[in-house]
Amino acid sequence: MINKDSRSIKQQLDNIDIVTTNRNEQQQLVQLHILGIAGSMRQGSYSTQVLKMVLEEAKKYKTDTQILELRQVNLPIYDPSASNKSSSNNDIEMVSNALKWADSIILSSPDYHGSMSGAMKNFLDYFWEEFAGKTCGYIVASHEKGLTAVDQMRTAIRQCYGWSMPYNISINGEKDFNSKRVIVNSVLMNRIKILARDLSVYGKLIRNQFLMDVANKEVPETYAAHYRDYYN
Ligand SMILES: Cc1cc2nc3c(=O)[nH]c(=O)nc-3n(C[C@H](O)[C@H](O)[C@H](O)COP(=O)(O)O)c2cc1C
Repeated sequence: MINKDSRSIKQQLDNIDIVTTNRNEQQQLVQLHILGIAGSMRQGSYSTQVLKMVLEEAKKYKTDTQILELRQVNLPIYDPSASNKSSSNNDIEMVSNALKWADSIILSSPDYHGSMSGAMKNFLDYFWEEFAGKTCGYIVASHEKGLTAVDQMRTAIRQCYGWSMPYNISINGEKDFNSKRVIVNSVLMNRIKILARDLSVYGKLIRNQFLMDVANKEVPETYAAHYRDYYN
């Protein structure tokens, strides 16, 4: 469950060290924050278990990680007319703060009728600027490959100007786990490690560049310029 405060842009920029290289001056995030969103309401969910494994693995790359299990938060069906993003529901505020804290995000969902879960879609409906300039990784639990479910999550993130990793993790719970809930598929184990590593590395590169572009008002020709008011 999330218990950390969100960061303002000032705090996020304070998380950047200025380091000088031989070629030019670069800024680097001190530590990448990765937030995992678990989109299954099911106790004993495979997609949630694998999400936790990826987050654990990512800690090897000096990241800070948190998980948000949608089954544990009260997010009413999103109603734009209620402007409930700023309502008094503490859970909405907590989820909003967690997203602002995040530099990279992992969306993990069951495949329901070839789609992401309703809980995941409802979560996505609440937020948009929060995804911009952040890299997302994807996990799906499916009896097939879950490609259409992941494609829909990718589309939602693209609509919000987020970046996506070029591959997914797909889990077929009954085949990939034994009765003790241990993964017996070595390809899946490898993919967990690869996503953790790649999201830590590529997520940091993209987030660094985005924050620098937001901060550098002398560069108008970047999509990041549209987020200068949001981060102000
Ligand atoms: C309502 C519902 C719809 C489902 N639709 C599909 C589907 O279209 N294709 C599929 O491969 N699996 C489907 N499944 C199976 C789930 O994707 C599978 O059980 C998965 O492991 C659930 O994820 P979880 O373990 O993270 O909860 C469906 C399950 C439910 C409950």
